[in-house]
Amino acid sequence: MAQRETWATRAGFILAAVGSAVGLGNVWRFPYQVGEFGGAAFLVVYLALIAVIGFPVILVEFTVGRYTDRNPVGALKQISTSSWQRIGWVFVVAGFVILSYYSVVAGWVLQYTVYGLQGNYAADGAAQFGATTGGMMSVLTHAIFMAAVIAVVGFGIRRGIEFSVKLMVPAIIILLAGLAIYAGTLSSAGEAYAYYLSPDLGTIAANWTSILPAAAAQAFFTLSLGMGVMITYASYLGEDRNLAKDAVIIVGLDTAIAFTVGLVAFPVLFSGDLAVADIVAIGDGPGFIFIALSQAFSNIPFGSVLGAVFFGTVTIAALSSAISIMEVVVSYLIDERGVDRIPATLLIGTAIFLFGVPVAYDGSLSWLTVYDELANNILLILGALLLSIYIGWIQTDIGLEELGKGIRNLGGWGTAWIWALRVPVVVTLVVILGLNAIGAYEAISGIIG
Ligand code: PFF
Repeated sequence: MAQRETWATRAGFILAAVGSAVGLGNVWRFPYQVGEFGGAAFLVVYLALIAVIGFPVILVEFTVGRYTDRNPVGALKQISTSSWQRIGWVFVVAGFVILSYYSVVAGWVLQYTVYGLQGNYAADGAAQFGATTGGMMSVLTHAIFMAAVIAVVGFGIRRGIEFSVKLMVPAIIILLAGLAIYAGTLSSAGEAYAYYLSPDLGTIAANWTSILPAAAAQAFFTLSLGMGVMITYASYLGEDRNLAKDAVIIVGLDTAIAFTVGLVAFPVLFSGDLAVADIVAIGDGPGFIFIALSQAFSNIPFGSVLGAVFFGTVTIAALSSAISIMEVVVSYLIDERGVDRIPATLLIGTAIFLFGVPVAYDGSLSWLTVYDELANNILLILGALLLSIYIGWIQTDIGLEELGKGIRNLGGWGTAWIWALRVPVVVTLVVILGLNAIGAYEAISGIIG
């Protein structure tokens, strides 16, 4: 077998992980979750979960990946001889399902970039969104996006993924910072910041059974956890680096970028002619950034140009995430089945494209909801929960040994990490999985029944 690939540089690994984390989750999913679950109240719970759950779990994936040098299925086979091995499959299946709809939404973002370039944002945002999200055009943009994903992943770790994230991630940061500065000059900025940044503790207390699982699912999605992406990316690390330090940088950048998106989106929205009540009503669904923002872009000065820059930035962010999901599935075929990278990429890319066609063609967003509920609210949490139990309670040595490698003096931090996994992470994930299972059952039976 050919020698397994590795990252060329430390920055390459960090940028790839940040590129994976920053994507539609930050820009498309985050604002409408904020809108749906109580504004700033959601933000507070989300930030707490990033620290308490997200950080320990990203370290689990990093240590397992670097310890085994394998894709998620191979990694679990290496560290377990029992039925825990099957966790690897949860990851690969979740990746397959998530990429199939992620690519569809990314295709719509691409389409909205084109609308901007054509000066075509409609004053009736809902009608334009309806026309974009179904039918052959939506299938076509899904196909174009998947072709780009296949091209990058086909070139491999160094020449494909590492090369492209070194261009994409700085571009995302610079473009977003520029947009946030511009948004701060809009006359509505003060009012928008107040809406976005003043949490109401009463809202959190009254709605915790809906806010907590939604915020946890968002924390997992945005950090690309529960799907083996961070296992796979860490498996290409050749050296003994300080994984905790890298995790702080990655989690910190992802969170800062999600937060910045709010600083762009809300001032732009408030400067359009929408009332706050309308924004909140549209905010309650996947159409949010498309409808509300494009409508706002249609009536502010230089709106088309700004819109093209905004949606163009989001397209790049989506691509740097999509390649990481694809790499999970492709690395499985390469490591475990001995398939070469290019045929593996073409095969998986085509299969994922076909699986996403119903989501792309269906204009009602029902398939999108079914895929999102299943993969995001159930599979991601399940995968992360099982792996946290395994490393936290059963194979503690592996995690501690690997984490300690790049850290000169781990001291009590290793034990603190294991206990964070054992109790807060496991208990919270069990509660959330239960609540999500009920929620998914209700949502899906509502669509089918
Ligand atoms: N973290 C990505 C985002 O926020 O858009 C989405 C994602 C990528 C989820 C990779 C899961 C994953 F494994």
